[in-house]
Formats: sequence, structure tokens, C-alpha cells
Amino acid sequence: MGQRLSGGRSCLDVPGRLLPQPPPSPPPVRRKLALLFAMLCIWLYMFLYSCAGSCAAAPGLLLLGSGSRAAHAPPALTPGPDGIAPRLPFQAAPATPPAAGKEPAEGAASQEEQSPETPDSPSSISSFFSGSGSKQLPQAIIIGVKKGGTRALLEFLRVHPDVRAVGAEPHFFDRSYDKGLAWYRDLMPRTLEGQITMEKTPSYFVTREAPARISAMSKDTKLIVVVRDPVTRAISDYTQTLSKRPDIPTFESLTFKNRTTGLIDTSWSAIQIGIYAKHLEHWLRHFPIGQMLFVSGERLISDPAGELGRVQDFLGLKRIITDKHFYFNKTKGFPCLKKAEGSSKPHCLGKTKGRTHPEIDREVVRRLREFYRPFNLKFYQMTGQDFGWD
Ligand code: A3P
Repeated sequence: MGQRLSGGRSCLDVPGRLLPQPPPSPPPVRRKLALLFAMLCIWLYMFLYSCAGSCAAAPGLLLLGSGSRAAHAPPALTPGPDGIAPRLPFQAAPATPPAAGKEPAEGAASQEEQSPETPDSPSSISSFFSGSGSKQLPQAIIIGVKKGGTRALLEFLRVHPDVRAVGAEPHFFDRSYDKGLAWYRDLMPRTLEGQITMEKTPSYFVTREAPARISAMSKDTKLIVVVRDPVTRAISDYTQTLSKRPDIPTFESLTFKNRTTGLIDTSWSAIQIGIYAKHLEHWLRHFPIGQMLFVSGERLISDPAGELGRVQDFLGLKRIITDKHFYFNKTKGFPCLKKAEGSSKPHCLGKTKGRTHPEIDREVVRRLREFYRPFNLKFYQMTGQDFGWD
């Protein structure tokens, strides 16, 4: 009776099945597995999404950036010229050269090494949570000074839950200003309401254009300067260059224009950076002194919690970072964090921080102390603080 379907059986051949039936629904276990897989995909997507936004400081993770965010993310890493540490391309070419110096590798020497031990990126967990919020221009910047203890200050500050900072030095106001504020903001980590965005680039302090440029971004920007005895700072600066170029002349010979007359070569950047009073004059044309905080590099080592207390007050933050956060590491010879940001492990700065300095001729050190004395006194007057370097 039933009409045969071409080459098959009639629907009516099967008792009780007059019309084609939908396929049977999957068993509950398969449905659960599918749901679990979908959740895993969503979680993975959110993780990558948050990393693209907040891992500007984590060079390796930049490569994970995807989708529309990747278009705004800084370009992928290129190997460093020395083949040792990869550098972010935006750190490479100075748009405006820093203070002149006779140092052969000035550009490279002014660059802070990114030690693998430095927790430049937040943990993946904190990255995940930082997927929310938005990128802001920094409200506070550590503008100097090179070899003052700027990395230590930033790493310590990052322990504060209301501080979010970019780990690598952006060098925006000295080398990449032409890239524009949108580019600069994109380097910043995401922040939630009430959190402060920060960065540190120590060369800003000696960059002529930096005060006007930062003021043009926001005249309310809070500025922090970590200062250290200019003689020790110069030796530390020299030690850093020496570590990269062991063939450079001695510190003693670079110090003088004419060693017989004792004329100091102030064009050598290692010497010039330490004339703090001169550099500060430029900043005071654009910022009131009350908007600047001067941190003692020496006290940052002898009493980190004390200096961090001052910094937290200055930034309007609750005093959360206290003595409890630090311990003195005898091997390192420096204070270290009991727990680094986003980790439960103790953390000291990398081996490029706290190097052993070469022995410098005592007479040269004496002459340098004499040279800096009037500038130091002027600096004490300007800041209202005696740093005790004489
Ligand atoms: P030295 O390596 O000459 O000792 P910056 O981070 O601005 O480049 O400064 C580097 C200096 O930070 C180091 O110079 C070191 O003296 C100082 N510093 C301050 N606190 C430190 C800490 N907790 N661990 C290591 N170095 C610290």
C-alpha cells in the first residue's frame, strides 16, 4: 500500500514511524562534556584578552595578543643588539637624545637592563583579573634618577593593591614623544576606580623637554625622584657601562677634562646627571615643588618601609606597605620583599641591581665631592631636605 521511496524502504514499512523523526538527543554525559568544553573556551578567551591588555610589561606575553587589541599592542619583540636581553622596539631609537656624554655607548648605557629576575609583569592570575578596568595615563611618574634606586622603589610600590605600573621603562617623554599620548596610554596596565597608574623612566629627570611635555599631559602629575649621593651614583653608572663594555677607559680618566688642572668633565653624563640642582630648576618652571617627592636612595636601602611610608602619603595611598613586607637578605646585601607582587615567594632585585663597584682613586673621589658640594647644598635648599652627602 505505501509508496516506496526511491531505492529505500517506505516510511510506512516501519511500524509506528509514519514521518521522519529527529535524531535522538545526546546522552547527558556528552551534553555535560560539551558544556565543560564551551566554558573552557570562554575562560581561555578571557585569559588571552586580559593578557593582551595588561601584559605590556611582559614581553613574552605580548605575542599572545589577539583580535582587535593586538592592533593597538606594541609591536612584537626584536632580539637585542647584544643578543642578550630582548628589548621592546619602542625603547630602541632615541627621538630626543639624553644629556650629552663622551661615553662611547651612551644610548645603551642609559638603558636599564631588564633582568629576568625582575617581576616586570603581573602574575597570570592578576592579569586575568586586570582584564577589567581601563587604561589611564599615569597620574604619578618616577622621573629619576638613573642608578638612584628607581627599580627598587617601583618594585616595592607595586606591592600596593592600589598601584598598577608598567614594568619596562616606556621612555615616552624623551624618545617616543612623536608617537602620541594614545600610544603611551596603550602601554599602561588596566586600572580599576581608585587605582593609580605609574611608570618609571629615570632619564626624564635630565631631559630638557620632559617637564613641559609631562605638564602638557597633565599639570597634576605627581613626580617622584629617587636621589643618591652623586659621587656613588656616578660610580654606579660607570659600573653599569663597564659591565657591558669592559674596554672603556678608567673612571678616573673619564672624570677629568684635564687631570693636571683637576678640571672635571661635566659633559660626561655620569657626572652631569648628579648636578641635581641644575636639572631641578627646569622642572620647577613647570611644576610646584609640592608636586615633587624626593626619595633618598640611601634610606631606601637602610629603611625601605620608612621611605615607602612617605611615598604612599605623597600618592594619597593607605599605608599598606610596612616593615612587614621587607627582610634584609645578607647574601644580596640589600632589603628584599618577603612576597613579590602576585607571588607568595620572597623576591630580591636582579643581579644588575646592587653590583660591586670598582675601587676608585681616593683623590679623584675627594675632588668629585668638592665639585658636587655647592650643587648639593643648593639642592638641599630647593627641596628643603638634607640628604647628608657631605
Ligand atoms: P648599584 O648596582 O650601583 O648598587 P636603579 O634601579 O635606579 O638603576 O638603581 C640601581 C641601584 O639601586 C643599585 O645600584 C642599588 O644600590 C640600589 N638599590 C636600592 N635598593 C635596592 C635593593 N633593595 N636591591 C638592590 N639594589 C637596590
